[in-house]
Amino acid sequence: MRPGLKRILYVVVALGIVLWGVQFSLRAAPAHPKAPPEMPDVLGAFGSDAPVTSADEWLSRRAPILRGAFERLIYGAQPETVSPILTSRRVIDDAAFKGIAVIEEWTLDVPLRAGPIRFHALMIMPRQAKAPLPVVIATNFCGNRAALAGRYRDVDRPAWTPGRCRTPIQQWAAETLHGADIIAPPFATLAKAGYAVLTFFPGEIVEDDPRLSQATLEALAADMDESAPKAGALAAWAWGYSRAIDAVSADKRLDSSRIALWGHSRFGKAALLAAAFDERAALVVANQSGTFGATLSQTTRGESIRAITRKFPHWFSPALPERMARREDLPLDQHLLIALIAPRPILLGGARMDRWSDPANAFAAAEAANPVYALFDRQGLAQTSPSRTDFSGDIATFMRPGGHGVRPRDWRETIAFLDAHF
Ligand code: GCU
Repeated sequence: MRPGLKRILYVVVALGIVLWGVQFSLRAAPAHPKAPPEMPDVLGAFGSDAPVTSADEWLSRRAPILRGAFERLIYGAQPETVSPILTSRRVIDDAAFKGIAVIEEWTLDVPLRAGPIRFHALMIMPRQAKAPLPVVIATNFCGNRAALAGRYRDVDRPAWTPGRCRTPIQQWAAETLHGADIIAPPFATLAKAGYAVLTFFPGEIVEDDPRLSQATLEALAADMDESAPKAGALAAWAWGYSRAIDAVSADKRLDSSRIALWGHSRFGKAALLAAAFDERAALVVANQSGTFGATLSQTTRGESIRAITRKFPHWFSPALPERMARREDLPLDQHLLIALIAPRPILLGGARMDRWSDPANAFAAAEAANPVYALFDRQGLAQTSPSRTDFSGDIATFMRPGGHGVRPRDWRETIAFLDAHF
């Protein structure tokens, strides 16, 4: 195709995407569910397991049963734990963002039976703050070079990226629709606030593509018990967060008791899953995580189980798609995933125009997890509505104007929540 024609085609496609986004965004999400769907009582009997009456029983008896059920029914299991080897660590810039931070690039090799999985992470470390520093592990959507807005040409660029990252015009469309922060997180703001950030692109661990992901997911399965349900991409990305926790915990400059996970949308789902399975995550922020993130799945609003499993079959355990033809077949709901993170702090970000991720039912899920926080003598969610943000509770939600994406307000709320809880 002639280059001129190709450019016109890109513009038409980009315009189409923007218009589609605008019409979708105009259908605002209701702020509060009229009647939250039925969901199993968080402390009630679960299968043959008797009701839970103490924090001890929750941790030692119920939590392992629930983790097993989430693996079996929805996400698949994670590979057995192996710590990554820090193959190289090099300074990219020792006075970045007008001198306030050091940027390092880490190359991490996770040894697996089928050969190592290599991924790269950027560490952005504020220069003035006192060690050991609290650290936010934040996933990015287009790889590390793009996360630094392409300013450093020698930073690794992943072998595979999704369509939205491939050309400047596609990136522009993604940024227009979802905010510039979706590709390049506001590292300088975080450094100024005293937080170190480790960022990585989960697509380096498993490609976010139904076909391409198959070989990688097979390779991961070789490190799992034969009887374990195979990991889908969400479980593999959650496992990636945990490998990032391994790397961060081995660095004496960082405070391993103040590790926060941050993820948006599909990676918000993965961040919640990671925190539910890995107690070293001291806090988690899931921005607009939606179906199989913080939002209840037994609801008719937002993205349905059918829609998500049809479009993204590779995200889930191979057992999920056909099993989930009927909602009633799922004996679990996402308030139980939230409850598995108790008593650690959770922030759920929502946007008023984002119907798809159904923030009102994420609020309902958080509310339903409260009794587990109470077992630990914690408050859980202290708010009476999704937009009445109250950081005095261990769970908080906020609703900002606009649609699905990562906007400066999302990170402002994150930093305020981190300040309140760390
Ligand atoms: C799609 C998908 C959502 C997901 C979102 C995202 O809209 O249906 O489940 O959260 O992509 O990751 O941006």
